[in-house]
Amino acid sequence: MISLQNVTKVFESNGNPVHAVNDISLDVEKGEIFGVIGFSGAGKSTLIRCVNLLERPTSGKIFINNKDMTELDQAALRKTRQKIGMIFQHFNLLHSRTVFGNIAYPLKLAKFSKAEITKRVTELLQFVGLEDKASYYPDQLSGGQKQRVGIARALATSPDILLCDEATSALDPQTTDAILQLLKKVNKEYGITILMITHEMNVIREICDRVAVMENGKVIEQGTVFDVFSQPDSRTAKNFVRSVMNDHIPDSILEQLKSNQPSNIYRLIFLGESASQPLLSQVNKQFDVEANVLFGQITELQGKPFGNLIVEFKGKQEEVRKALDFVEKQILVKEVRES
Ligand SMILES: Nc1ncnc2c1ncn2[C@@H]1O[C@H](COP(=O)(O)OP(=O)(O)OP(=O)(O)O)[C@@H](O)[C@H]1O
Ligand SMILES: [Mg+2]
Repeated sequence: MISLQNVTKVFESNGNPVHAVNDISLDVEKGEIFGVIGFSGAGKSTLIRCVNLLERPTSGKIFINNKDMTELDQAALRKTRQKIGMIFQHFNLLHSRTVFGNIAYPLKLAKFSKAEITKRVTELLQFVGLEDKASYYPDQLSGGQKQRVGIARALATSPDILLCDEATSALDPQTTDAILQLLKKVNKEYGITILMITHEMNVIREICDRVAVMENGKVIEQGTVFDVFSQPDSRTAKNFVRSVMNDHIPDSILEQLKSNQPSNIYRLIFLGESASQPLLSQVNKQFDVEANVLFGQITELQGKPFGNLIVEFKGKQEEVRKALDFVEKQILVKEVRES
C-alpha cells in the first residue's frame, strides 16, 4: 500500500548536508497500523512528510497503491493527497474557524456541496464523539478534544491512509489512551491503513502491528511488535522496550546462575492466552521436572497479555530437555546466561 524505496532526504544546514532520511526502504501493508519509533532528531517527521510529499525526497521513490508519488504532476498529487489524511502533534487547527468549520475545510477545498458537507461533518463529529462541540472554537477545547477534531478533519475526504506525526505527544497518559483507542477504531471500522511515528514505546505497544526503529536517518530494526518486544536486536530497540517493561534479570537470579551447573534457567516469552500458567502445570504433570518461576512480569501488548517469565527447570537433564521441547512448541524460549 505504501512502499518507500531507497528514500533519502538531505537538508542544507549552515552549508553542511544533513541526511535527515538516509536510504530508507519500507513497506506498509493495507489495513495495518505501522509504527516508526526513534529518538528526537532521528528523522521521523521528515520520513512521514516524504510519504505525502510535503517534503520532496532528494532521491528514492514513494509508491502509494503502486503509483509513484514523485512522478505526479500538481493536479494528480492534490487528488492523491485527498486519500492521505494527516494528523499532527500540535493539531494544526484553524483558530478562526469552529470545530464544524475545521472539519468542513478539506471538503470545501474538494468542492463538495453544502448538503454533502453537513452530512459528512455530522457523521464525523459523531464518530469522534464531539457532537455537542460543533460550534466551539479550537481555543475552547482541551488537547484531547482538539486531536479529535484533527482526526475528524483528516478523515473528511475518506482517506485510505492516515499519517500520524506524534499524535499523542502533547497529551496526558489518559487522553493518550483515549486517542489511541480512537485511532484503533479508525483502523478497524474504516479499514484505514495507519502509519504513525512516535518516540513513545507505549504507543507502539498499544496499537501497532509492526514497528520500525529509526536512528540517524536509517531504519536499524523492524518487525512485528511481538518480535521487537520479545527479541529486540539493537541497543536502541532494547532501550525502548525497557522503557515500558522491565526485562532485566534480577541480581539474585544472576547469582544463582553462577552457582548452578548446568543452570537450566530459561526465559519464557508468550503472548495471549497461551499464558504460562497452564503450560507450566502441564510441564510439572507430564514430565519428571519441577518448573519454578523465579521472576515474572506480565504486561499488555496489542490488548493481550504479554509475559516474560524466568523459570528454572529442575530434574534430570534428559527430562528437562523433553520438557523444553514441549514448551518450545508453544511459546518462545530463550536460555538465560550470565552476561
Ligand atoms: N528544514 C530543515 N532544514 C534543515 N535541517 C532539517 C530540516 N528539517 C529537519 N532537519 C534536520 O533533520 C534531522 C531530522 O529531523 P526530524 O524533524 O525529521 O526528526 P524527528 O525524528 O522528527 O525528531 P523529533 O522527535 O524531535 O520530532 C534533524 O537533524 C533536523 O535538524
Ligand atoms: Mg518530529
